[in-house]
This record gives sequence, C-alpha cells and structure tokens, in this order.
Amino acid sequence: MKHKLGIIGYGTMGSWHAENVRDRIAGLDVAVVYDIDPKKREKASADGFCVYDTAEDFFKTDIDLVLIATPNNFHKDYSVMAMEKGKNVVCEKPACMSVKELEEVLAVSKKTGKLYTIHQNRRFDVDYVIAKKIVEEGKIGKLFMLESRLYSNRGFSKGGWKAKYETGGGLLYDWGIHLLDQIMCMIPENPVSVFAELHKVYMQEVDDVCCVTITFESGLTARFLCDLWCHIKEARWHIQGDKGTAVINDWFGQEGKMLQTTDVGVEESVGCIYTYNGLSTSMYSRPIQELNELPLPLPAVYPRWEEFYENVINVIEGRADQIITHEQILKDMKVLMAAFESARTQTVVKLSL
Ligand SMILES: NC(=O)c1ccc[n+]([C@@H]2O[C@H](COP(=O)([O-])OP(=O)(O)OC[C@H]3O[C@@H](n4cnc5c(N)ncnc54)[C@H](O)[C@@H]3O)[C@@H](O)[C@H]2O)c1
Repeated sequence: MKHKLGIIGYGTMGSWHAENVRDRIAGLDVAVVYDIDPKKREKASADGFCVYDTAEDFFKTDIDLVLIATPNNFHKDYSVMAMEKGKNVVCEKPACMSVKELEEVLAVSKKTGKLYTIHQNRRFDVDYVIAKKIVEEGKIGKLFMLESRLYSNRGFSKGGWKAKYETGGGLLYDWGIHLLDQIMCMIPENPVSVFAELHKVYMQEVDDVCCVTITFESGLTARFLCDLWCHIKEARWHIQGDKGTAVINDWFGQEGKMLQTTDVGVEESVGCIYTYNGLSTSMYSRPIQELNELPLPLPAVYPRWEEFYENVINVIEGRADQIITHEQILKDMKVLMAAFESARTQTVVKLSL
C-alpha cells in the first residue's frame, strides 16, 4: 500500500518534492496540493496533481503525510494543524522560528503519536559525508578547527519572503540551518557557546552574509560562513586536526586533498621565508616531502536522498526510528536561536544543552 502525501506550498521546494517523490519514492503517492496562491494551484494542477483551494478541504482528504514547504513563519501552525488532524508531518527547514514554537510542535507530536521530522536533506550531500568521514577516521588527528563555507554573489530577491524578517527570511534561516545541522551531526560533543556575525549587505531587514562559530566542550571550534556577496570562493570545507589538514573544494567531493604530518619534528623542519618586507620563520611551511598525501575518503556507497523518505515511510509503519530526531531538531534550534542572540548583542552566547 502506498502512503498518500499532501503538499502545502507549491513554490520552488514544494514542486521539487512533488516531482522527486513522484519519480523516486516508490512507497509514496503525491495525492494533493494546497497553496494560498491561485497561480501556484494552477501550476500544480497543470503538473498533474489534485489541488484544493483551501487548507480545510486539503486536510479533509485521506492523506497520511503532509509536507510543509511554505515560508518559514507558517511552519509551526501548519505542523500543529496537520498532526491534530491525524497526519504525519515532514516540514521544510528551519523547523520553526523559536524554541518555544518548536517545543509546542514537539508536544503535539508526542500527544498525537504522529511523526514530525524536518527535511534536512543536506545530510545526504556527498561533500558532507566525506567531511564527516575525515573527522571520524581521525587520520588528521584530533580535530581542533573546522570551517564549512558557501558562497555565491547574486543575493536574495528583494521582493520575496526571504528578504523579510517576519516571514523568517535571511541567510541564517535559509542556508545557515543546513550548515549548522551538518556540524552538529559531525561532532559528537555538546556545543558550549556560539558567536555569530550577521551582515545585511544589500538586504534591509535580514542577513545576506552570516558567519557563526560554535565552540564545543573540548575547545574545538566549528565555523560556518555563508555569503551571498562574494565573487571569489574558498574551499567548501577546511578541516584541521593536530596531525593534518583536509580540504574539500566542491559539492561533489571530487576536488580536495588531505595532508598528514610525518614524524619529522618541528625542530628538524626549520627554515625561513622572505616576505616583501622582512622574513619569517613562523610562516615557513614544511616542504611537501615531509608530508603524507592521502586520498579523500570517498564513501563506499554514495548517499541517496531517497533514504530520507524511505525512513519516513519506515517510521510511519513502525519499522524504524527517525533519522532526523526530535532531539537533534531541538538542539539545532537552540543553537540557531543563540546565534541570532549573539549577532544582536554582539556577545558570545553560552549554551547548556
Ligand atoms: N531543504 C532545502 O533544500 C530547501 C531549499 C529551498 C527552500 N527550502 C524551504 O522550503 C520552504 C519554501 O521555500 P521556497 O524556496 O519553496 O519558497 P517559495 O516562495 O518558492 O514557495 C513558497 C510557497 O508557499 C506558498 N505559501 C505562502 N504562504 C502560504 C500559506 N499561508 N499557506 C499555503 N501556501 C503558502 C507560496 O504561494 C509559495 O508557492 C522554506 O521553508 C524554505 O526554507 C528548503
């Protein structure tokens, strides 16, 4: 028996889910669509989906799973509404717009026994899977600093909801939550503090550049930088351990390298570089012959986005636990909110999770 999926919000992401679920997820039928905008409803209908003009009628159908792909400020109400009507919920990221909202949603999931999870699809990105493997395998030693970076240079459309504060716009909500979730999954420690810088370069109300540093219990710092106004990109991942450095340059893990320290000691590898004005021994780099170059640890089996919905189906049928858990979703939201607070107050915000 196929489960029936209903989609609320048939914009960029809602239509992406519709198409990809239809083509790639055998256990799900995209049964119905609701969007507040008649033009989007027309599009969904033209794409071959059954469309409802009101949320009320949409919820009366026999769908057992709802995907919420509206602007972020509607996530909480639709999640609660769907579970109260007996439907399971996949909500787009970010889950909600405050910890309080999310706690309310999680309580409804507990009360109704309905699945509630977040579409953290970036956990199935191959660059992330490789970065996580680098951290776990320990070939570069004990991790002390990690940077995750994303750049583009076109900005947000000024007229859209992503440009507005009240609809949950801004880059930290948009991409920051993906990068934050990846970091939280890679590092098996609790974060203890957050420092965030949010810039409004071309936006009036919301950030279009965000840089967030999370410090973990061991002192390890993980930073993500997301920038919509940068013409020259740096590597996607830069990972440093006490025995080496790894770099992944692209989304596909095709370009990058890992260099490992050999047993040539610091005292042995002495030298000097001559700069424009003076010289430096501290900036002298070891010759390449003193390092081991290792291949990036490509996964034996590449991640598949389908695993997300396959897990949702298995959870609904009682055969598996959620891979994107309530505990993770709540921790992510606490760190995200601490980042907003840090940027607002220009202070390091302590966390106790
Ligand atoms: N996981 C990902 O990779 C990813 C990528 C892009 C967007 N998203 C998320 O998906 C969600 C939607 O983003 P998008 O880029 O598709 O935006 P979008 O503007 O393209 O689409 C949003 C749709 O929601 C509809 N809508 C607005 N208010 C509504 C309401 N009250 N009830 C019903 N429909 C309503 C709009 O008419 C529009 O069709 C956001 O939460 C965003 O963060 C996730």
